[in-house]
Amino acid sequence: MSGDSVLLTDIGELVTNTPDDAAADDREIDSDPEGADVAALGLHRDAALIMADGVIEWIGPAARAPAADHRIDCAGAGVIPGFVDSHAHLVFAGDRAAEFAARMAGLPYAAGGIRTTVTATRAATDDELRANTARLVTELIRQGSTTFEIKSGYGLTVGDEERSLRIAAEFSAQTTFLGAHVLPPEYAEDRAGYVELVSGPMLAACRPHAAWADVFCDRGAFDAEEATTILTAAAAAGLPARVHANQLQPGPGVQVAVAVEAASADHCTYLSDDDVDALAGSRTVATVLPGAEFSTRSPYPDARRLLAAGATVALATDCNPGTSYTTSMPLCIALAVREMNMTVAEALWAATAGGAAALRRPELGRLAVGGPADLVLLAAPSYLHLAYRPGVDLIAQVWRKGRPMLREDHHGR
Ligand code: NIG
Ligand code: FE
Repeated sequence: MSGDSVLLTDIGELVTNTPDDAAADDREIDSDPEGADVAALGLHRDAALIMADGVIEWIGPAARAPAADHRIDCAGAGVIPGFVDSHAHLVFAGDRAAEFAARMAGLPYAAGGIRTTVTATRAATDDELRANTARLVTELIRQGSTTFEIKSGYGLTVGDEERSLRIAAEFSAQTTFLGAHVLPPEYAEDRAGYVELVSGPMLAACRPHAAWADVFCDRGAFDAEEATTILTAAAAAGLPARVHANQLQPGPGVQVAVAVEAASADHCTYLSDDDVDALAGSRTVATVLPGAEFSTRSPYPDARRLLAAGATVALATDCNPGTSYTTSMPLCIALAVREMNMTVAEALWAATAGGAAALRRPELGRLAVGGPADLVLLAAPSYLHLAYRPGVDLIAQVWRKGRPMLREDHHGR
């Protein structure tokens, strides 16, 4: 059965992240050769795209676009792949605005703040957690994210982690078991007992609702041995690893991530040269989270170091109530460009194809015939405006599997 086809035409600049598919006559012919960063975006000018049945059916020059059931004139605006947010903590209750204010007044961030949210999350009903998650998911989509990972990690009992993941799975297939977020207060004197709980009964209860397992391997959280024990047990249960690594200080997180062949090492704020080399020589994606440095007033990592070494870099929001209470990938792109030495093209790639690599879903974060119709119409002529116009709402429409997600009249379209 075939659904209605939709033609998006008069696209001023189309980012596909699929350079090989961009036929020479579809691509910008510029006297200045494109840098590799821009070439990776697979740009088409004056383009059109047809989607039907949730997938992309055709991409090419607007002048050669075939007919479709519906036609949307983009009036020269840009179209990009939907953002792939590979790192978000969305199942929790309460907020920590006072803790943020105290930090801005000079206090440092400590992992222990997580326990404030654990108390609030345990006290919440399923419906309260579900409603808060739904609100954040709406925000994410509104800002152009068409795929988002959701972690548990604010329950820290078998029952609270299980229900966090059950609720997360109502919103995304990319769910991550983060029972090892921090040691809960009732295990303060029994670290080994908690590692056993996470690696055993908690993992077993969460496994049916989870796609990944994560450990916060850092000061005030879990050490290399504990992280390795938990991630090895998770891998044996069928959950590949992701790691919160090197956020608060230099440490073993990245090396643990590479050793267990994690899909990504996230934060990467304090990296040694060996860490950079290890990431570059592995399949582990380096995920940078500038919202966390912003909201903890921490030094930003230099993403240029990672890129120059050949590591794959992803960019994500890390949306959580403690260190990065933002759902805005455009904000993260602007921060990565301004503060982490990424070009705008690199930051956009990291927020789309990079996130897809971090989730090992290479068909996401790009626009290609036969691939999912997850895309964003910008209220701007070029992706460059995402960093050039910080804080401005440039998301005119979002399609997930070909379905428009925003009001049809938004931005007059
Ligand atoms: O990614 N670093 C660990 N987890 C979160 C912070 C969680 C919190 O403070 O509530 C992060 O930054
Ligand atoms: Fe995080």
